[in-house]
Amino acid sequence: MPFGIDNTDFTVLAGLVLAVLLYVKRNSIKELLMSDDGDITAVSSGNRDIAQVVTENNKNYLVLYASQTGTAEDYAKKFSKELVAKFNLNVMCADVENYDFESLNDVPVIVSIFISTYGEGDFPDGAVNFEDFICNAEAGALSNLRYNMFGLGNSTYEFFNGAAKKAEKHLSAAGATRLGKLGEADDGAGTTDEDYMAWKDSILEVLKDELHLDEQEAKFTSQFQYTVLNEITDSVSLGEPSAHYLPSHQLNRNADGIQLGPFDLSQPFIAPIVKSRELFSSNDRNCIHSEFDLSGSNIKYSTGDHLAVWPSNPLEKVEQFLSIFNLDPETIFDLKPLDPTVKVPFPTPTTIGAAIKHYLEITGPVSRQLFSSLIQFAPNADVKEKLTLLSKDKDQFAVEITSKYFNIADALKYLSDGAKWDTVPMQFLVESVPQMTPRYYSISSSSLSEKQTVHVTSIVENFPNPELSDAPPVVGVTTNLLRNIQLAQNNVNIAETNLPVHYDLNGPRKLFANYKLPVHVRRSNFRLPSNPSTPVIMIGPGTGVAPFRGFIRERVAFLESQKKGGNNVSLGKHILFYGSRNTDDFLYQDEWPEYAKKLDGSFEMVVAHSRLPNTKKVYVQDKLKDYEDQVFEMINNGAFIYVCGDAKGMAKGVSTALVGILSRGKSITTDEATELIKMLKTSGRYQEDVW
Ligand SMILES: Cc1cc2nc3c(=O)[nH]c(=O)nc-3n(C[C@H](O)[C@H](O)[C@H](O)COP(=O)(O)OP(=O)(O)OC[C@H]3O[C@@H](n4cnc5c(N)ncnc54)[C@H](O)[C@@H]3O)c2cc1C
Ligand SMILES: NC(=O)c1ccc[n+]([C@@H]2O[C@H](COP(=O)([O-])OP(=O)(O)OC[C@H]3O[C@@H](n4cnc5c(N)ncnc54)[C@H](OP(=O)(O)O)[C@@H]3O)[C@@H](O)[C@H]2O)c1
Ligand SMILES: Cc1cc2nc3c(=O)[nH]c(=O)nc-3n(C[C@H](O)[C@H](O)[C@H](O)COP(=O)(O)O)c2cc1C
Repeated sequence: MPFGIDNTDFTVLAGLVLAVLLYVKRNSIKELLMSDDGDITAVSSGNRDIAQVVTENNKNYLVLYASQTGTAEDYAKKFSKELVAKFNLNVMCADVENYDFESLNDVPVIVSIFISTYGEGDFPDGAVNFEDFICNAEAGALSNLRYNMFGLGNSTYEFFNGAAKKAEKHLSAAGATRLGKLGEADDGAGTTDEDYMAWKDSILEVLKDELHLDEQEAKFTSQFQYTVLNEITDSVSLGEPSAHYLPSHQLNRNADGIQLGPFDLSQPFIAPIVKSRELFSSNDRNCIHSEFDLSGSNIKYSTGDHLAVWPSNPLEKVEQFLSIFNLDPETIFDLKPLDPTVKVPFPTPTTIGAAIKHYLEITGPVSRQLFSSLIQFAPNADVKEKLTLLSKDKDQFAVEITSKYFNIADALKYLSDGAKWDTVPMQFLVESVPQMTPRYYSISSSSLSEKQTVHVTSIVENFPNPELSDAPPVVGVTTNLLRNIQLAQNNVNIAETNLPVHYDLNGPRKLFANYKLPVHVRRSNFRLPSNPSTPVIMIGPGTGVAPFRGFIRERVAFLESQKKGGNNVSLGKHILFYGSRNTDDFLYQDEWPEYAKKLDGSFEMVVAHSRLPNTKKVYVQDKLKDYEDQVFEMINNGAFIYVCGDAKGMAKGVSTALVGILSRGKSITTDEATELIKMLKTSGRYQEDVW
């Protein structure tokens, strides 16, 4: 095998991929069967035949999406809404996970496909069926299909928009006709929104011609019947993360009281944070170590997995949002889909306050598309004119809105000079503001040493607004929540701190009291080699060190258990390249020497500091070069290479450094060394967990 690839590891990796696929598929099926929110959807009606559902519901346009973390879904929904609002089309917008595609060639309408890319150019988890169908479609099998496609990706990854390109290739080979150009959004360049707007404008022109559409002034038509209720009962959600947690429901537990899953996007586990602490010793930044106890559930995790943490919005931002739209947080409302192919996005009935605090993403950047759909609700003619102008002029929008880090409420307040946007219907907000999504964290514990406790290492996103000196700092929702919990848990009086935001730490019906948060585990294939004598090279600056703390704790626990059993196991060399700005932010600084002692010299840590006073900036890739001979020898001896952390600069810099090391070590060209790195990636010997 090239580069001494370990057969056992190959088998384990292949098995792992298969297991993940099966796991995901099984979960999706379970999720569908467990759909208990009372909607009459095509999904819960049990019909998964895509052509039948489109035909039976008299749809004249189909939008499909495959999304891992909600971005593709969000854009698919925006696109659908625009088709309805401007062209009065009867659009069906559907997650590919919920349908079977054997009848795709019989779908009698044009199809738009929004698809994001994950892993190493892979389709999102929920697209297993869809991928399987189109990749195996024979030539001519999709000759009736007319479609367009928008890919969502990040050009810092090697397989940029890999899933969309693969889908495109197979659809074309099966005889489908693409209308308009393939859209390619680039999150790495930060242009996803503008890429979408440019693609969408060009596709609408194509569709106008194809379908002879007349454009009308956008008019919002809700997909839901909105009813105001007057009593909070046990089935009214106050922000519970899923309907399972309503008092009217019963959680599924075994005889020992252990809550049974599956725990995933449809139902998290509400886990106590049993311990949390600040990891930085300086005051200018914060990094929080949090330990989640999963022992009340049947969740199992493996070292290298991700923890999904479900946040709620800070009280200040909720207040600001309620105020600009003049909304009463106490209003209780119910939503019923007017169309059986539509699903209510969160548990209802609920209150306006709960929906805004728990279910909508109200703090992030505002999109030009949202501006365009808000024109109809502008509070006066001047604002309408300004909004129209900004929705059409991307440069002006960038200067006046994006560069100032405005969220929706900031932007609308700025535009209307404080005048309320009180004619915007709640259904519009539910349908147009992105839904709250969990954030993922690389688990920094080992399932071998802490079986039911998951550690997470999160850098707190909190920086001054670079454009507006008198504006509040720009903050991340989840990381500031984790910091609030860390301080409260360690008996700091939050009211006396200068925290930029505060939260309702008790949650709905005190569900999160005593420092609990909803979480679920997402499987990854970031795994140590199964053979402990295989050498391992880990590269993880900043919070990128998180999974490597887990890896090293795993090796320590393994060695201790072997010694206890009287086995004399020798570990391969494990080398960790770590980088931090200086010594104040050196993560887990006190732990590493302990690990090195316990690993009997098989663990070595190499540290690069980039901002030590009066010292030249040093990065992990510089250290790789300093250790060139050792790194080359380890790779030649079959080492597994792991990179974690920043996708934009670091992962590329590291890859370039390794290409150089291989090229010099093997006396081959840079192109040949690049090919070798690709081979290592394909074979699973070079793994990245980057974001
Ligand atoms: C696979 C994976 C693993 C990860 N592992 C880790 C890990 O181990 N540790 C870790 O710390 N992170 C990790 N992350 C990143 C993590 O998931 C979150 O993205 C990160 O913690 C920020 O979340 P947040 O909710 O605090 O910020 P968000 O609320 O999501 O905000 C994101 C960013 O937008 C900025 N922002 C807020 N409002 C605006 C506005 N109006 N306009 C423009 N910008 C705005 C925020 O300041 C912040 O920088 C990982 C990500 C992935 C995908
Ligand atoms: N998507 C997200 O929401 C999110 C959230 C958290 C972290 N991240 C990413 O993950 C990374 C780790 O975050 P962090 O705050 O923990 O790290 P950090 O402290 O900002 O950076 C850790 C070290 O990496 C160095 N570094 C910067 N650019 C580099 C490059 N191109 N190559 C190699 N090293 C480089 C830094 O040097 P300098 O002195 O030059 O800064 C520092 O020494 C960040 O770079 C960030 O982009 C993303
Ligand atoms: C772990 C991870 C792996 C990714 N892999 C790729 C990739 O291989 N190619 C690519 O173009 N984009 C990749 N991306 C970027 C996403 O496709 C991009 O952020 C997209 O907007 C996400 O859309 P979604 O939220 O609908 O899933 C990756 C992102 C993450 C977090």
